[in-house]
Amino acid sequence: MNSKQDKKNLNWSELGFDYIKTDFRYSAVYENGGWNSGELLADEQIQIHEGAPSLHYAQQCFEGMKAQTSKDGRVLLFRPGLNCERMRSTAARLLMPEVPKELFMKAIEETVAANFTWIPPHGSGASLYIRPMLIGVGENLGLKPAEKYEFRVFVSPVGPYYKQSGLAVINLAVSDIDRAAPNGTGNFKAGANYAGGLLATLNAQKQGANEALYLDSSEHRYIDEAGSANIIISMKDGSFITPSSKAVLSSITRRSLMDIAKKELNMNTEERPIDLRKEISKFNEVAACGTAAVLSPVGKIWFDESWHSIFGDGESVGPVMQEMYDILVGIQKGEREDKFNWLHHIEL
Ligand code: PLP
Ligand code: COI
Repeated sequence: MNSKQDKKNLNWSELGFDYIKTDFRYSAVYENGGWNSGELLADEQIQIHEGAPSLHYAQQCFEGMKAQTSKDGRVLLFRPGLNCERMRSTAARLLMPEVPKELFMKAIEETVAANFTWIPPHGSGASLYIRPMLIGVGENLGLKPAEKYEFRVFVSPVGPYYKQSGLAVINLAVSDIDRAAPNGTGNFKAGANYAGGLLATLNAQKQGANEALYLDSSEHRYIDEAGSANIIISMKDGSFITPSSKAVLSSITRRSLMDIAKKELNMNTEERPIDLRKEISKFNEVAACGTAAVLSPVGKIWFDESWHSIFGDGESVGPVMQEMYDILVGIQKGEREDKFNWLHHIEL
């Protein structure tokens, strides 16, 4: 048995965003109209029926969140209630049973606590990524919802999503492949949204970008979001904006950054359609944001056959995004006062 002081002997500051097998995961099953209470398991393999609707018809969804260690050794989650709410709305959209809040929180807390030795230490630059998932299991051939579901939570220590550590500039390439239809499932965290984006990401990377940037799929004018992150923009007139779109994921990081811009930095904030080509000359700084991406300033955007620099030469981090990053990450790591009451402490 590990004592609470023992941590795994990992090179924490060198971690990328990859799966590392930890000791425990949580699994609960929904059957005959109800959830069992679930349990921690050692086995990372899921035994699943070949007819499972999650495999054929993508009847599944997931969430992403992080646990951080504070300087005084507390383990902190960032707004987990919003992940629970979002999973509930995605489940409803995909005709899956909602995971009750008590079960969701119990599974997260128990999985994180049971894997204490895998939680990266304060100051390492790494964090414990938490992946809750809900999948339709059991046999089904026709296109209809599953009768049985598994809710599973696993964790993995991770470093930066875009390979660079700390606050580093990324580039985006506008995709000619659409991610989500205006009245489709783009605003839900359904795995089905991501498989179709793999080719867009590959194309963006061939172009020399880190990630694809999607414009709205009906007119290809307005910014939607990046493949795994929302977009935030500080404008030259001092305002702070983010796209309003029915097709983007409602990012918890983005909602928090909009609050920080408004309430901590006293900026005028607005959620509105943003026409990339018409407005790019008014952009001061742009960033992609999300649980995995944290806040990643965007240096250049590729569209209409050329690169467009955003801030300066497109290589450096601007002061607004630097300050936003410092405030957000400071709160998440327990280094700054949690004025918004966003942190949730895990009992160890
Ligand atoms: N957009 C997409 C497509 C995502 O996959 C994510 C990641 O979760 C986000 C945005 C950011 O959302 P959040 O800040 O809630 O992690
Ligand atoms: C997250 O940021 O948590 C996500 O789910 C994005 C994923 C593509 C890694």
